[in-house]
Amino acid sequence: MCGIIGYVGEKDCVSILLNGLKRLEYRGYDSSGIAVLNKEDNRNEISMVKRVGNLKKLEKALSKKEMKGSLGIGHTRWATHGKPHRLNAHPHLDCKNEILLVHNGIIENWGPLKNELISRGHKFISETDTEVLVHLVEDYYNGDLVKAVRKALSKVEGSYAIVVMSKKSPNQLVGARQDSPLVVGLGNGENYLASDIPAVLEHTNKFLIIEQGEIANITKDKVEIYDRNEKLVNKSPFETNWDISSAEKEGYEDFMLKEIMEQSIAVRETYRSHVYKYKISLDESNLPIDIIKNIKKIFIVACGTSLHAGYVVKGVVERFARIPVDVEIASEFRYKDPIIPNPSLVIAISQSGETIDTIAAIREAKRKNAWILTISNVMESSAVRESDGAVYTFAGPEIGVAASKTHTAQIMICYLLSLYLAKVRGEITSAETAYYLNILKEVPSKIKSVLDNHSKIKELANIYYKFPDFIFIGRKYGFPAVMEGALKLKEISYIHAEAYPAGEMKHGPIALVGENCPVVAIADDSSVYNKILGNISEVKARNAPVVALTTIGNEKIKNLVDHVIEVPKIPEEFSAIINVVPLQLFAYEIAKKLGCNVDQPRNLAKTVTVE
Ligand code: F6R
Repeated sequence: MCGIIGYVGEKDCVSILLNGLKRLEYRGYDSSGIAVLNKEDNRNEISMVKRVGNLKKLEKALSKKEMKGSLGIGHTRWATHGKPHRLNAHPHLDCKNEILLVHNGIIENWGPLKNELISRGHKFISETDTEVLVHLVEDYYNGDLVKAVRKALSKVEGSYAIVVMSKKSPNQLVGARQDSPLVVGLGNGENYLASDIPAVLEHTNKFLIIEQGEIANITKDKVEIYDRNEKLVNKSPFETNWDISSAEKEGYEDFMLKEIMEQSIAVRETYRSHVYKYKISLDESNLPIDIIKNIKKIFIVACGTSLHAGYVVKGVVERFARIPVDVEIASEFRYKDPIIPNPSLVIAISQSGETIDTIAAIREAKRKNAWILTISNVMESSAVRESDGAVYTFAGPEIGVAASKTHTAQIMICYLLSLYLAKVRGEITSAETAYYLNILKEVPSKIKSVLDNHSKIKELANIYYKFPDFIFIGRKYGFPAVMEGALKLKEISYIHAEAYPAGEMKHGPIALVGENCPVVAIADDSSVYNKILGNISEVKARNAPVVALTTIGNEKIKNLVDHVIEVPKIPEEFSAIINVVPLQLFAYEIAKKLGCNVDQPRNLAKTVTVE
């Protein structure tokens, strides 16, 4: 996730772009850049500044540089393809240094396109997927920037919001959008393009939304928007009454809710950046094929929510790749003198990549000669730097302390990694891989349908918020999701909650159950459905109120339990990524009902860099 902005007008726009980027910094902050075109005395001069690090670095660099221009674009980056580096920062330039482009999204077919463009003589300077776009526009530019952008975009697959400017069209910006947001801000004698409303809210409250597949051609006093069929679209602007702080949350009450709602996008971007034409690419992992083929054991090291993703890895890697997996609490790992057979793969999962316990576990595993792979949401994080390879989730920055979208993105990576290992080890065929990838491709829309059910989950929370204790139960693939559901509830609502494998209840925890201790059970379509029904009957017999998470269409279970949360059907191996979402919403709504600060729960920090 990145933030993009563009300005066309008569003012000197450097500070307008910089301030806009500051409002977009929540979308990414590993590098940034601004380019402007100075048209004074017809000199048509481009100046550009890029810096690695947060926007303070860019601001400092700009303060030292004479830079003027009334046409400009800016970008704040969350690295996806290519590490945070000045050459990978946007804007990107064509070979003649005339066309400039900023991009938010992922171009899936950038590899073949890059090879093709290189064979036609284009020179690339970055490792990004984005750079292909600007070279394509260069190829098609024939005096009409809109046409060139349209043609370039017809070649790409993936997601994008872009803003393009050219020295040769000094009074014009072109924007386009597919699966990444883009708005037009309407000013007086000036216009803006931006990833979202807050970026330009201090200059205007009138906006147009660019819809899927549309292209916007913008000058200081004209906005034209074309649909996919090159037809002009007539749009009426709307006025927003947002203030700046609510706008950063895009209208949501908290970052956590916004991030929960962003999950279908986070999961889709994570899938898209690793899958192209039914092939899983984990190139950045550097995982040697001979290691994959000979691994004796996999260890997962992680903490908290990331540890729960580890339990998902265990389920799917053992199922598909048939490699034994141990899930290890990172803070314990280094103290137990772990026995690590050779060759072993240690997978560290950490959204921040800065959790000290996980880093210490990585060091311990390294000392014992394991091959270390980190799954992280942050490129160049400490965990990534200390590992032999890394695979990234593309969830964008997460601001709420309690993890949500980074977790479902981690689960998507777990699925892809397990299929990749299985394929390399010959446990599944290409056809089977394609079959499973087709299922995973549908996950974002299934998550969206769960999110669309938000109001029903809120109604349930309004009933259940009064209980002091909860027990969450699940079996097999259902267990990691209930562990996460219980953690979410306790950390943001301060209600005591425990998760148990349902069959374990009778060995002790069932003593807690009664009318004051509700049970949340995962009872979706699965090979253990009848078993869990038995476990639900056991707690019902002890008067526990029961909420069952069940597959849409299961009417029968409604006679057994008090309330149901319906989830779309998916093969059981991949159910965790769906089932965890309503549990996040359930915890969120209970916490809100209790008046808790969900973005900053007491005693917790987003990144735990102390032991
Ligand atoms: C809970 C939560 C924490 C983190 C844990 C590890 O909502 O966010 O449990 O999952 O502190 O953090 P990372 O993944 O950054 O290593």
